[in-house]
Amino acid sequence: MTDIESFRCKLVTYDEIVKWTGDVAKQIRACDCKPTVVIGLTRGGWVPARLMCDILGVKKLYAVKTEHWGVTANPDGKALLTQELNASIEDEEVLLVDDITDTGESMTIATAHLLKMRPKGLKTATLLHITRSRMEPDFHSVKVPEDKWTWFIFPWNVNEDLRTLLPKTLYEAKSVSEIKKAFREQFHITVPEDVVRITLKDLLAAGTVKRAGRKWART
Ligand code: ADE
Repeated sequence: MTDIESFRCKLVTYDEIVKWTGDVAKQIRACDCKPTVVIGLTRGGWVPARLMCDILGVKKLYAVKTEHWGVTANPDGKALLTQELNASIEDEEVLLVDDITDTGESMTIATAHLLKMRPKGLKTATLLHITRSRMEPDFHSVKVPEDKWTWFIFPWNVNEDLRTLLPKTLYEAKSVSEIKKAFREQFHITVPEDVVRITLKDLLAAGTVKRAGRKWART
């Protein structure tokens, strides 16, 4: 019997991103600890970090990057710092921003890297915080209990995530409408058929799926 992979996902909207970033900015304003530098933990922290700069009036926006040995909904793989900071933060009040703390690995690694660069202060912020994380950011908007673990499909990552999730629906050959139904049943998300078709086209070009008569199958 084929194992059918299933876990809760949520399609996040840009309105939610703006709301959550605003919540975090409000907390930062209230603590009277406005940063002089914002660092986005890329790739997920890039958009929130840019929005944070706008709200808080911060001009210096830098980036560091961590990467997981894994893809969508597999954040358990080890994280590595793959892009160091290439600017000075000595004597700066730094705010490190990411979209989510899930295992907390990325934040932990990035924080250790930045502390070596002698900032005056370092605070951390995420939009979402899953309580299983080994580190809790200083600021976050939404707390997600561990038993409500969800894969958040951020608006800047929709196509990438759908390209990862769709093949998981093809444990048997399916039509477009059957794939749409499987997205609902396996991942609790509603994906319009035209978006399913675009994703299939990308996966066909990548050689991940093939046509099987009127249906689609994994290669
Ligand atoms: N990156 C790490 N954990 C995540 C999650 N639960 N949802 C979306 N992106 C993530």
